[in-house]
Amino acid sequence: MEIHMEKSLELFHEARKRMVGGGSAGGRIHRTLERPLYLERASGSHIFTADGEEYIDYHCGAGAILFGFDHPRIKEEIRKCVDKGFYMNFDSEYTVEFAKLFTKLVPTVEKIRITNSGTEATLAAIRLARAYTGRDLIIKMDGHFHGMHEMIWYNGGYGRDLDEFGETRRVTAELPGFPEHGEEHVRLIEFNNINAVKHVFEKYRGRIAAIIMEPVNYDCGCVPSTMEYMRKVRELCTQEKIVLIFDEVISGMRFRPGSAQGYYGVKPDLSTFAKAIANGFSLALIGGKAAIMDGFNPLGPVVCSGTSSGNMMSVMAATACLRMALEPGFYNIIEEKEALLCGGINQLFQKHNIPGHIRSHGAQFAFYFGYEDPELDFRLSETVKRFRPDLYKRFVKEALKEKLYMYYGGDKPFPHHCGFTTAHTREDIEVTLERLDRVFGRL
Ligand SMILES: Cc1ncc(COP(=O)(O)O)c(C=O)c1O
Repeated sequence: MEIHMEKSLELFHEARKRMVGGGSAGGRIHRTLERPLYLERASGSHIFTADGEEYIDYHCGAGAILFGFDHPRIKEEIRKCVDKGFYMNFDSEYTVEFAKLFTKLVPTVEKIRITNSGTEATLAAIRLARAYTGRDLIIKMDGHFHGMHEMIWYNGGYGRDLDEFGETRRVTAELPGFPEHGEEHVRLIEFNNINAVKHVFEKYRGRIAAIIMEPVNYDCGCVPSTMEYMRKVRELCTQEKIVLIFDEVISGMRFRPGSAQGYYGVKPDLSTFAKAIANGFSLALIGGKAAIMDGFNPLGPVVCSGTSSGNMMSVMAATACLRMALEPGFYNIIEEKEALLCGGINQLFQKHNIPGHIRSHGAQFAFYFGYEDPELDFRLSETVKRFRPDLYKRFVKEALKEKLYMYYGGDKPFPHHCGFTTAHTREDIEVTLERLDRVFGRL
């Protein structure tokens, strides 16, 4: 199958005159196409391009879509919101209901503050942790992503430049334009390496405000924390009075029982959520222990506010999502689809004798080309030695030709995360496996 793009190329040509790179955000560019994919519409698990092509979508709005596009129950709430005047900069009974339902889904969260994006949420959480502890240093996991701000967008060598204790030798800003010496406020360690945590906690004792991590690191593919690691980190943070921040921007709502903190049975001090909780509407939040959260204004001195924060449309969309996630059987549906899709893909790896495997956790998964042993996924330093970016890139290109949409944001030593939604039907999955069979055959 060929990819048709006449209309898209026309749009790209026009867009580039006025929009940087022809897209509304850097992340819109698909690096195997070298342009954005312009859509005409999206419905359920399918996206329809400006050229009239139909893809089964496995990008899911970069993790923002969990219930499928154009969901009737979300649409109903949006219509209600339009009728009520779609106001912003005010709260309503819907905001109150949202908070109630959210803390039901994630009972480890005592209080919340709403923002618009995950970037804003992690920024505010870090600032709050610093104010609460009166300390400055932040411990971050090499490779984890928490938004595009100067507080935290630093990485090391993606697991390739670690010292003997699992701390990275250099902390580097991810891009130019960061303030000089900004990196002095961050230290990087390898994820899932408890000795590295012990090491930095001792080395920087009395200086660390917070440790932040994606409890399931989807930004390096799909890397869950081990149970032991998570529990030990909690214990050490309590001992050292260091704020433990879980960034659940992608993991939030994606697997039973609604959050990573529920899954691991660990209560972080603060956590951040976005993306799926409003199924694509701009809503994020910081949640956590009341004693820390009360540091936000008006109770405390840390300002966290925004003109569009808690806007009614996003809140009402998110409330519809929460109601669905709280229904009995919701996570059974996700687990059934995960088994069918990811189990099927793993069989294809074997059938075609291609070195690699799928790792999934809830409604999110990643293709690990290059090695078979899933135990090696837990350490980024092991993944980057074995992962085959060349095979992975060819795979994504061939999958696009088969009208399966997976995102490719650039060459990295680990895969990009893919996802499915509750709208992906059994038939979608069967068709996907047939198409992937052809893709794997061509690899
Ligand atoms: C784990 C994580 N945290 C934070 C962010 C930033 O969220 P946003 O894009 O809503 O600013 C992302 C975005 O991909 C993310 O994956």
